[in-house]
Amino acid sequence: MSDKMRSTPSTSRRRILGRREFVKTGTIGALGSLAFLGARTARAADAQVEVLVGETIGTISPGIYGHFTEHIGGVVYDGIWVGEDSSIPNVGGIRRELVEHMKRIKPAVVRWPGGCFADSYDWRDGIGPRASRPRRTNFWVNSRELRAAPDGPQKYDPNQFGTNEFVRFCRLVGAEPYFAANVRGLTAADFDAWVDYCNSPKGSTSLADERAANGDPDPLRVRYWGVGNESWGCGGNFTPEEYATEFRRFIAWVPDHGVPLSFIASGPSGGDLEWTRRFFAKLTERDRGLLRSVFGWGLHYYCGTSGKGQAVDFTLDDWYDLLQKADVMDSLISSQWAAMAEIDAEHKVKLAVDEWGAWHEAGTEVDPRYLFGQMSTMRDALIAALTLDTFNRHADKVVMANVAQLINNLHSLFLARGDRFCATPNFHVFEMYAAHQGGESVRTRFTAPPIGAYAAEKSSPLWGLAGSASLHGKELVVTAVNPSAKEAIEAEIVLNGATARDGRMRVLASGDIHDHNTFDDPRAVETKDAKFRAQGGRFPAKFPPASVSLLRVTLD
Ligand code: AHR
Repeated sequence: MSDKMRSTPSTSRRRILGRREFVKTGTIGALGSLAFLGARTARAADAQVEVLVGETIGTISPGIYGHFTEHIGGVVYDGIWVGEDSSIPNVGGIRRELVEHMKRIKPAVVRWPGGCFADSYDWRDGIGPRASRPRRTNFWVNSRELRAAPDGPQKYDPNQFGTNEFVRFCRLVGAEPYFAANVRGLTAADFDAWVDYCNSPKGSTSLADERAANGDPDPLRVRYWGVGNESWGCGGNFTPEEYATEFRRFIAWVPDHGVPLSFIASGPSGGDLEWTRRFFAKLTERDRGLLRSVFGWGLHYYCGTSGKGQAVDFTLDDWYDLLQKADVMDSLISSQWAAMAEIDAEHKVKLAVDEWGAWHEAGTEVDPRYLFGQMSTMRDALIAALTLDTFNRHADKVVMANVAQLINNLHSLFLARGDRFCATPNFHVFEMYAAHQGGESVRTRFTAPPIGAYAAEKSSPLWGLAGSASLHGKELVVTAVNPSAKEAIEAEIVLNGATARDGRMRVLASGDIHDHNTFDDPRAVETKDAKFRAQGGRFPAKFPPASVSLLRVTLD
């Protein structure tokens, strides 16, 4: 995990104009100081968003808008699962408020049961009558943060939430389940049996009968299967060659029971290109055809505060620092893609960024037992937005992504404790960005004055406005992030290859970059409609400081 608390250096290929170059383009007049001008101000027509409507990148896979739920801290127990007998409103034991909110963001896929937990989990423990399921030591029991905590599900998993409950949760919210299988501790035969239990036709096998007896006569039709998790670390301390051998064994001739299986392999620690090169080399040493059996190459990337303030208490420098670290996702995708191409030139294997988010110092969790539980502020919302924009721009490469983690954890969309519940600013970003799902990602050129040397020791600037766009028939969806904590940006939107008839705009912004939602003030941060008129080929839009915006433009 510590690897992800450090971020790899940014070599983003995204075009960032230097201040001098920016002035030279004549897009704007004199800029003055670019950051920290004191009070929040606006710059007149100082930026341009050019949408190249005819230049498509690829279809935005709804899978990019996925989530991750591990048996850790307060994610499953008290987050998702409250139990059927709970006084907390629930649907068959699953927190009702969570289900209702999830539906609003159209979650395409949810990953479970880990994370590191996955490589310690025996799926058989989580099936059958709940009263007789075993209690098992949770992978995270030895965490420093849990030492003083009383015994409970965070330390000893009661297995009340297992395969059938998880798939019911997915069905309730309209998502596909994505299972991560235990490679460190179980065998390929156990893996086959889990697939059999989930997908074999009614009445066909003993495991199908068992599933029926557990309340699901019809196959669960689980398509996505992760083979291990972070196999270079908690998933088994494998070398890339060892892991590739295990991966080959696990995916060899798994009976699919009529469900097309999509396997996801465990990718590198951070941006480690050697792990990628060596895995692909070993995977294909006997048969290059195996590339066709790998649906996704799993990437994990967390940008961390690493000792620089925590989730809520941070400085202006920390704000820009973390946004810049989050932006590393862009170069990570490009560099991994290039390394994969050394063996997989046709790019049969795509990227599955199955863990991503901001990882802050402990101390803001809503319950001390909720390991890695943290508040999410406007800073995290901007990180979510710029990351989703990055995925959209790489729609030809990224087929799936899972923000870590759904509730009561890192970069969560929700917080819950007992009967209290609230959505974080991240939820609002996902609700806005759902508009991109399934659209054709089109090229954009965001031209804006970069955020200059926001701290004396910083040499590289952060872009001044970034985003993505997608086409859905006659609707163009554009999302944008203004990272400036102080200045609004007035941009000209230029449609290259289309004209607008109408448009609307929704914005997530708040008075203070530290703003966040709490149980007592759950609507402190939320989206609002903004004034916006889209007509013809060029029209203005104003992006408030520290904001995320969604423009929906109807084309002629
Ligand atoms: O999301 C928390 C942990 O981070 C996951 O269990 C692991 O895969 C990663 O290191």
